Amino acid sequence: MNPLIAPSVLAADFANLQREVEMINESESDFIHVDIMDGVFVPNISMGLPVVEAINRHAKKPLDVHLMIVTPERYLSDFKKAGAAHITVHLEACPHLHRTVQTIKDLGCRAGVALNPHSPVSQLEDIIREVDIVLLMSVNPGFGGQSFIENTYAKVQKLKKLIVETGSHAKIEIDGGVSMENAKKLVDTGATILVAGNFVFSSKNPQETIKKLKNIG
Ligand code: DX5
Ligand code: ZN
Repeated sequence: MNPLIAPSVLAADFANLQREVEMINESESDFIHVDIMDGVFVPNISMGLPVVEAINRHAKKPLDVHLMIVTPERYLSDFKKAGAAHITVHLEACPHLHRTVQTIKDLGCRAGVALNPHSPVSQLEDIIREVDIVLLMSVNPGFGGQSFIENTYAKVQKLKKLIVETGSHAKIEIDGGVSMENAKKLVDTGATILVAGNFVFSSKNPQETIKKLKNIG
């Protein structure tokens, strides 16, 4: 099956965001991935609510917002108002993950839970049926352009098994270092959404690169 593609604007030209969003609008991508970093949960600061609002003013694809921030529950309704269709929080940042997931769904957004590379999939056992998206980090979060961690395939396999066993409808999203070198194997293993930052935006023809990723299945 063909994956859903979410280009990450973290790798876009921030001085020309409207043009970059229009490029994504006219491509075969399915979502626009927006990375929010607070300099606390991850060692980098990316963008905040006004930038998400600005992206949303031009976006024709749903915003897939990835919160790499501490206490994300404080900002969920703000991100919804800014235009988020999906809100993904980190398991490692949420002591009351069940409540946080419920709040995201009550806001009318799809609820995602992200796992850092070291966090075992088994930690999702008791929440997987509530979750719309599980985002597996295939690099350590904080920066674009890092190399893909090979152990991700094993995690996709375990997650797929958990989803099937529990009858969950969760989609499996992979984020970090995605390229033509790993996309097919990821999709064959069970990934359903691929995020791609540098691989798309550093390529000569980003729309063509999105098309290639999309048609890999
Ligand atoms: C990393 C972010 C990713 C990043 C991916 O912390 O969550 O979404 O933009 O960028 P690439 O595809 O360049 O690894
Ligand atoms: Zn991300």
